[in-house]
Amino acid sequence: MGILLKGGNIITATDSYYADIRIEGEKIVAIGSDITQSDDEVISAKGSYIFPGGIDSHTHFGLDVGSTVTADDFYSGTKAAIVGGTTTILDYATQNKGETLQGALKQQFEKAEDKCFCDYGFHMGITDWNEFVNSEMADMVNVGITSFKLYMAYKKTLQVDDGIIYKALKRSKELSALIAFHCENGDIIEVLIDEARKNNYKSPIYHALTRPVNVEREAIARLLEIAELVDTPVYIVHLSSKAGMDCILDAKKRGVKVYVETCPQYLLLDESYYKGIDVNSFEGAKYVMSPPLRKTSDNLALWKGLSYGDISIVGTDHCSFNYIGQKDIGLTDFSKIPNGAPGVEHRIALLYTYGVLTGKININQMVALTSTDAAKVFGIFPKKGTIAVGSDADIIVWDKDYIGEISAKTQTQNVDYTPYEGFKQHGRVKYAFLRGEMVVIDGNVKIIKPTGKYLHRINGR
Ligand code: URP
Ligand code: ZN
Ligand code: ZN
Repeated sequence: MGILLKGGNIITATDSYYADIRIEGEKIVAIGSDITQSDDEVISAKGSYIFPGGIDSHTHFGLDVGSTVTADDFYSGTKAAIVGGTTTILDYATQNKGETLQGALKQQFEKAEDKCFCDYGFHMGITDWNEFVNSEMADMVNVGITSFKLYMAYKKTLQVDDGIIYKALKRSKELSALIAFHCENGDIIEVLIDEARKNNYKSPIYHALTRPVNVEREAIARLLEIAELVDTPVYIVHLSSKAGMDCILDAKKRGVKVYVETCPQYLLLDESYYKGIDVNSFEGAKYVMSPPLRKTSDNLALWKGLSYGDISIVGTDHCSFNYIGQKDIGLTDFSKIPNGAPGVEHRIALLYTYGVLTGKININQMVALTSTDAAKVFGIFPKKGTIAVGSDADIIVWDKDYIGEISAKTQTQNVDYTPYEGFKQHGRVKYAFLRGEMVVIDGNVKIIKPTGKYLHRINGR
């Protein structure tokens, strides 16, 4: 006995068409018109879109930042993900300085195993370099971690220098792996923060003022020079600015291969959110993330990047901290506010409402940006990221008639605010299937126990 999804409007990265989908076990086994099979459970998808399950390739669940741990762990974070139509997440395991990659991976598995409502994989963050790490990169690839991450910021904890970037990229080239980069010049940021503190500047807006666009552009330019020298592709996470985009376009013209990700916050929010309701307000802390929010002209440049295909992935960088009890660690010192914001639950609805329905991107682009391209870049295509015979039955039936409003009061994310409070939401998940199992109905999780599996990835791109 299988499941027959009848009459939906199937949307992939390249096609839009009406057809029935037959699911057997974990897989899509047939797509066609008027499929009939006795014994099948028949579910009508008439009037709905059908998308491949979303892939959010940038989350931080259960992340310990020293002063606190993110509000969402793998349990609540992945539950929120499936509510919003994301059936796969890629989170970051991160080596602490002096630690092995194996050790970091073991800890991450302990946090995630048996707690995920969607399928999951990891990138490996490298913060320390030696011969052992060089050789461990191959071990990571062998266990399905085919992408890595280096930070050019967070000076005392995560940041690596240019020599390490060069060496790691050479190794990544040998392994046909991919390295993702957080591009901000951490040395300069450190000095700007010191200057601000000496001037007794305390409020959240100084987070943005001490991370100006120049530090992002400079780091992107430097990275792309090193990538060109090594002659290997790189991936830039959470691009926030037009200046950064222009720099990437220049490098692309020279032949540098670079994949670019942005996030809903950099498309939909701007620096005005740091000001809060009055001059003494701490509300801006909700938007303390790195890089910071920019200007509306930056938002527009990033939308253009999506529509022209220069940005191929929209992840969330979901890294949630409660406003009360966590963000307020930095009440009297902006530099102590834990960095990050929630978003995993609302990514697809935001792109649909503010991207597709406003004509900034088309619906096939939305699928590419929220699912297909991440599957290709990170080595899980066509198992994930499309609607095709043989692919995992990760399927979203999208109720396009739903109209609602995003609010912390109604969200599944385990955090006391959302940066998108009051934003309109058009469309929502009517049904979500994870490998053939219906896990969400009308925005509500239908299963009790998490069923997500670890994804052993191959080299992508
Ligand atoms: O502010 C952010 N983005 N926090 C999460 C860590 C990172 O830099 O991606
Ligand atoms: Zn980052
Ligand atoms: Zn991140």
